[in-house]
Amino acid sequence: MADDKIKEVLGKLQYNVAVVTVGTGGAENGLTISWLSQVSFDPPMVLIAVNRNHYSNLHLEGVGGFVVNLLRDDQKELAGRFARQSMEGESKLEGLGTQESESGAPILKDALAYLDCEVAETAETGDHNLFIGKVIGAGVLNEGAVMTSASGLRYGKS
Ligand SMILES: Cc1cc2nc3c(=O)[nH]c(=O)nc-3n(C[C@H](O)[C@H](O)[C@H](O)COP(=O)(O)O)c2cc1C
Repeated sequence: MADDKIKEVLGKLQYNVAVVTVGTGGAENGLTISWLSQVSFDPPMVLIAVNRNHYSNLHLEGVGGFVVNLLRDDQKELAGRFARQSMEGESKLEGLGTQESESGAPILKDALAYLDCEVAETAETGDHNLFIGKVIGAGVLNEGAVMTSASGLRYGKS
């Protein structure tokens, strides 16, 4: 099948837009994520797919947990901030209100809601790494509608 047809159909899939935060003690990072899904009821588990070239992999591979911060549909600026590549010595979290989760990763206080996850399984697939997290905590922090790819923000190949 032609690549452009595959691309066209994959482009019809809808996703949430969230910020995944990782790391502790001044070594935190975060990245905007769409490839996110619940994959188990009992125990509750979620899957994220992270491009192997992203800086965040270094954090995810070195720590035991991550937080999925669901954004509100009016938080495009925040989504954009975390969709930039990390620079040496820079923290994308600087100036943002955070609180430490049980897994150790920062929770963004401005997020709509969060899932705190303990890494349970990892796998390599194509050009992405998969991280499956057991959900060990959750909270609704603010009111509003959740951001989805319907907002116009999509994960595309750069
Ligand atoms: C709406 C949107 C969704 C994204 N979803 C993903 C994703 O699911 N997985 C991924 O690896 N990168 C995704 N990205 C790209 C990363 O957020 C971006 O490459 C970021 O710079 C990575 O940060 P890092 O270099 O600090 O790890 C997405 C970007 C946008 C704008």
